[in-house]
Amino acid sequence: MGGINTFRAGDGVDPDQVPKRRVYTGAQIPAIGLGTFGSDRFSGEQVAEAVRGAIAVGYRHIDCAAVYGNEHLIGAVLQEAIQSGIKREEFWITSKLWNDMHGDGDVLLACAKSLKDLRLDYLDLYLVHWPFPNYHPPGASVDSRDPHARPYIHEEFMKVWRQMERLVEMGLVKHIGTSNMTIPKLKLLLRDAKIKPACNEMELHPHFQQPELFKFVVENGIVPIGFCPIGSPNRPDRDKTETDTVDIEDPVIVEIARRHQVHPAVICVKWAVQRGQVPIPFSIHRHEYLSNLLGAVTDPLTDEEMEAIAAIDKNCRLIKGQVFLWEGAKGWEDLWDPDGIIPGW
Ligand SMILES: NC(=O)c1ccc[n+]([C@@H]2O[C@H](COP(=O)([O-])OP(=O)(O)OC[C@H]3O[C@@H](n4cnc5c(N)ncnc54)[C@H](OP(=O)(O)O)[C@@H]3O)[C@@H](O)[C@H]2O)c1
Repeated sequence: MGGINTFRAGDGVDPDQVPKRRVYTGAQIPAIGLGTFGSDRFSGEQVAEAVRGAIAVGYRHIDCAAVYGNEHLIGAVLQEAIQSGIKREEFWITSKLWNDMHGDGDVLLACAKSLKDLRLDYLDLYLVHWPFPNYHPPGASVDSRDPHARPYIHEEFMKVWRQMERLVEMGLVKHIGTSNMTIPKLKLLLRDAKIKPACNEMELHPHFQQPELFKFVVENGIVPIGFCPIGSPNRPDRDKTETDTVDIEDPVIVEIARRHQVHPAVICVKWAVQRGQVPIPFSIHRHEYLSNLLGAVTDPLTDEEMEAIAAIDKNCRLIKGQVFLWEGAKGWEDLWDPDGIIPGW
């Protein structure tokens, strides 16, 4: 474990060959990153070893979050990688502010903790993980409710955003962004922000393409980062419902995978990169994260294949957020501003 050679792999991808997306500051974000949420199934140690292996095969973009509980382990790997000669500026490291740190003064504390754990002196991107200040403990059941939970309140979100802007002014983070947002919420933020979001992290996979939000984000110069790009087959059981569909079993994806001689997961990654979002697939298995990275740089899908995948959208949201519901909410749909209206706004 550790040591210089663990960050070199003969069969990987040259990081310079990985496509990049330009954010509005001119900075470049690698067009594919590694997810690090272990879904309660994989230990922090396993995820940190995957980060080590992924860096060795050419990943430079790592999607972290305080709530994943593994930043201190990933930080040790990042430190070794940088000591082994990979320059800090070659990496794009994202972290996220958890929902229990939205109060006055909390954002700086949370960011400082993530920086300390990740052993970095700046983040490339810091996201507000969810636009709700509701707290639930990690692993809480979908039926559990925070009695203090409330719907989105824009004035309160702006107090969080001002603290995020301050982090940029202090040089602790290069970019700030959002996650799990909707068009109405983003419109309010774009109206009131001094520093606009550079990226919006959103659920994106062939069965959940979010065409309107995707278009809105791109048209406003925000880079879309796509989570659950493979349809998160290993997501926690609490996030599974009977009506959920499985992207990697879709006959269209399976047939295209057969043609390209890859796993259907790799087709989901190719589609994402070619559509223009930045997928952040997770895996602790070397053959999987390597094939995802190779999939992003080789053997592209044809226009016909891209069109065939565009046609299999099922509007199937997997990460519904039930646990953030407030007293009086009708159902999880209320979190996502049905009909373009923020409940209570
Ligand atoms: N901002 C947010 O609110 C938010 C929410 C959710 C996720 N995220 C981020 O997005 C990342 C990705 O989402 P996710 O982990 O839920 O789902 P995902 O990336 O869609 O799916 C991950 C699973 O796909 C399988 N897989 C990956 N590559 C494969 C390959 N080449 N061949 C076969 N199977 C493959 C793996 O299954 P096996 O382990 O069985 O091989 C892995 O556990 C997270 O890790 C996290 O960083 C952010």
